[in-house]
Amino acid sequence: MAINIKRPNGTEDVLPKDVHRWQTVEKIARETADSFGFSEIRIPTFENTELFMRSVGETTDVVQKEMYTVMAKETKFTLRPEGTAGTIRAMLQNGLLNEALPQRVYYILSCFRHERPQAGRLREFHQFGLEMAGSPSPSADAEVISLAKNILDRLGLKNIKLYINSIGCPTCRAKYHEALRNYFENRKDELCETCHERLEKNPMRILDCKSPVCQEIAKNAPVILDFLCDECGEHFEKLKKYLGNLGIEYNVNPKIVRGLDYYTKTVFEFVTDEIGAQGTVCGGGRYDGLIEQLGGQKVPALGFAMGIERLLIVMDKQKCEFLTPRKCDIYFATMGDESLEKAMSISHELREYGYRAEFDLMGRGIKAQMKYANKIGASFTVVLGDNELSQGTAKVKDMETGGEVEISLDDKFRVNFESLYFNKMMDSLEDGEMLNNLNGDVK
Ligand code: HAM
Repeated sequence: MAINIKRPNGTEDVLPKDVHRWQTVEKIARETADSFGFSEIRIPTFENTELFMRSVGETTDVVQKEMYTVMAKETKFTLRPEGTAGTIRAMLQNGLLNEALPQRVYYILSCFRHERPQAGRLREFHQFGLEMAGSPSPSADAEVISLAKNILDRLGLKNIKLYINSIGCPTCRAKYHEALRNYFENRKDELCETCHERLEKNPMRILDCKSPVCQEIAKNAPVILDFLCDECGEHFEKLKKYLGNLGIEYNVNPKIVRGLDYYTKTVFEFVTDEIGAQGTVCGGGRYDGLIEQLGGQKVPALGFAMGIERLLIVMDKQKCEFLTPRKCDIYFATMGDESLEKAMSISHELREYGYRAEFDLMGRGIKAQMKYANKIGASFTVVLGDNELSQGTAKVKDMETGGEVEISLDDKFRVNFESLYFNKMMDSLEDGEMLNNLNGDVK
């Protein structure tokens, strides 16, 4: 029997030639979150299953149909379907909520959901997300939404619509659930089996069902905005005012309920209609009850997550610019052992100073080595032949201009090369080229 070593359905490889696209998104997202006072958190890939059942919610599609769960010895573990639950668990377990509030963390992580794969919907996907804990104020909602908008803008994305809604607190939710039950009860027979159970336990989840019949029935269901209590109504009005002050365009969409149970008050989504059905590139909201529900203090919190694969699809579609990947700074073409050893020692020093230096590891002839240097886009090359070694100097060639500068092969090589490199960088800067270098902060 042939062994199946193909990657599983709904997963993707990111090849070296494409990784700069990911690094562009990650760099911009990190820098933006950092400028808003967020620091990175890293959490485990799997957690106790109960954590997700408690937080994401037992009547959600994610918990009911999409989790990857294993039984290891006596314990049930689940690969994280999202980042919020694990992040809040980590905040609680490590006492972050006893420190200065608000606590602000961001993460870049893989998530796992057993959905039907299609463009923009994977079984392993990646999120950039963040969570802020401690502030009950609508100014925090505006801050988090404006952060998300900032990232999308800095990625160069256009025509991404922001939809906002309030799904209230447990007080307004009770009346709303009653109205929903009354509405759906009349058409109970047409609902899917899962929604029968939802009707009893959590009728709001019917609004989020993926079955076309349930979706059709849900179209005319009552909307939560008509049931908000005074506090939730005020919170929403203030958020709208702040967004207006910030010049952030939004649309109120009372149909947005989100697919996870922990939300209260504000929910929002950034959506594009340019990439088909999976157009939500970012989703988030407030979840004031979750921390207490997980055994912590009563601390309000909120956040969002962006699907990195979806961002990349839209960036490609809109021909957004990516930061340029790093290339070889200097390539040493060698002939024989002595020359190789020289290349090794000079490269070692250059690397210490942050340069990307390479030399032949394949035993190729000089011609083939130069061909290789061209292929990898080396900025400079140096041929280390017998003459060069005996004279103690070599010509460093600028591969773009063809210009050559003679540099001594002693301990001044690095300093001299550095000034050559610096001049080239200044020339490129004048031409506006290096500004988009992914590793501009290194070399
Ligand atoms: P979510 O809406 O389930 O929210 O996911 C956030 C984003 O992840 C989506 O908007 C989408 O871009 C991406 N995404 C979700 N599922 C898939 C998939 N199967 N394939 C590719 N991309 C996908 C959450 O996960 C919440 N934890 C967000 C949050 C953080 N709310 C508060 N804090």
